[in-house]
Amino acid sequence: AAPLRLGIAGLGTVGIGVVKIIQRHADLIAARAGRPVTITAVCARDRSKNRDADLSGYAWETDAVALAQRADIDVFVEVMGGSEGAARASTEAALAAGKDVVTANKALLAHHGQALAEMAEAAGLAIRFEAAVAGGIPVIKALTEGLAGNQMRRVMGVMNGTCNYILTRMETAGLPYDHVFEEARQLGYLEADPNLDVGGIDAGHKLSLLASIAFGTRVSFDDVQLEGIGQISIDDIRHAGDLGFRIKLLGVAQVSGRGLEQRMTPCLVPADSPLGQLQGGTNMVVLEGDAVGQIVLRGPGAGEGPTASAVMGDVIDLARGLRLPTFGRPATSLVEAVPAKVAAP
Ligand code: NAP
Ligand code: HSE
Repeated sequence: AAPLRLGIAGLGTVGIGVVKIIQRHADLIAARAGRPVTITAVCARDRSKNRDADLSGYAWETDAVALAQRADIDVFVEVMGGSEGAARASTEAALAAGKDVVTANKALLAHHGQALAEMAEAAGLAIRFEAAVAGGIPVIKALTEGLAGNQMRRVMGVMNGTCNYILTRMETAGLPYDHVFEEARQLGYLEADPNLDVGGIDAGHKLSLLASIAFGTRVSFDDVQLEGIGQISIDDIRHAGDLGFRIKLLGVAQVSGRGLEQRMTPCLVPADSPLGQLQGGTNMVVLEGDAVGQIVLRGPGAGEGPTASAVMGDVIDLARGLRLPTFGRPATSLVEAVPAKVAAP
């Protein structure tokens, strides 16, 4: 069978992880996909950087849009990041040029995912983004495939590992927020703009994507009620502990009489519950469906291997010809009868 040919835009943590998996598991992937998956061309800003992978067999582009438009790629893999600029322009260019897209970019999708999905579906293409929500945890596949027979009641979870690290470390080491924030910076955990993490924005992006899939609604990041962890003191954590609770930056999406509620806020969770027990940089997603009941998924929400693993799951689906619709559309919405906008309680 003809190979599925990739163009990979971005050769940082995730992009290099994808290159390594394709190089390491070429035979296994070909067997599972029913055809080889190959890399035609790659793209990053600085060609002279040492990348910890052999890229000599691939064509090089410095312009992501040019990569997206190459006639010799079938799938554009966007792992650069950012909700605007090159990520947005190249993703649009790829869809316009008839390429399927796989991305790990939650910021891009939370802001422009609906328009991109509509562009993709109008052209019979797919835009896949398993890696954008909870890194290595295959939560989107769980919702769109394994749980497709359920009406979802609620999705919730801890979806930002950096915040969970900071809160856990404050509790276990008895250190104040500012100290642990600085530690997280030194360890390289924080995004270039740390407010994306500690302001709850990154986790809010992920929740908006998950909620759209779970409830068949349009992606609406503006409707996520957001509150970060910057105001949490060591005393808050101690008092919560005295009462048998832990503080987690918890995302919750559920349908109520007021519509689809989406909240990403610090919450008290029972210390002995699965969410309360979640330590360090790990993620956890809890899915509640009317038929299945409750499912708890736990795993690495970031890092080279886990995030590239999720990207490859999407790539292999495309090699198999699986093109599922991206998000909910009004016609399939389970909550279309109620307003999507929810006033803060
Ligand atoms: P990263 O390590 O910072 O790498 C970004 C790559 O994109 C770099 O190779 C960079 O080139 C390239 N790049 C940036 N702007 C570019 C432009 N205008 N034109 C061409 N190339 C450009 O980022 P990452 O951690 O791999 O993250 C990539 C995406 O995955 C982001 O959307 C992120 O939110 C998402 N994600 C990451 C993780 C994670 O654990 N890292 C987890 C889940 C999702 P240079 O190397 O030349 O600078
Ligand atoms: N900054 C994110 C986190 C990276 O800490 O979870 C993965 O999306």
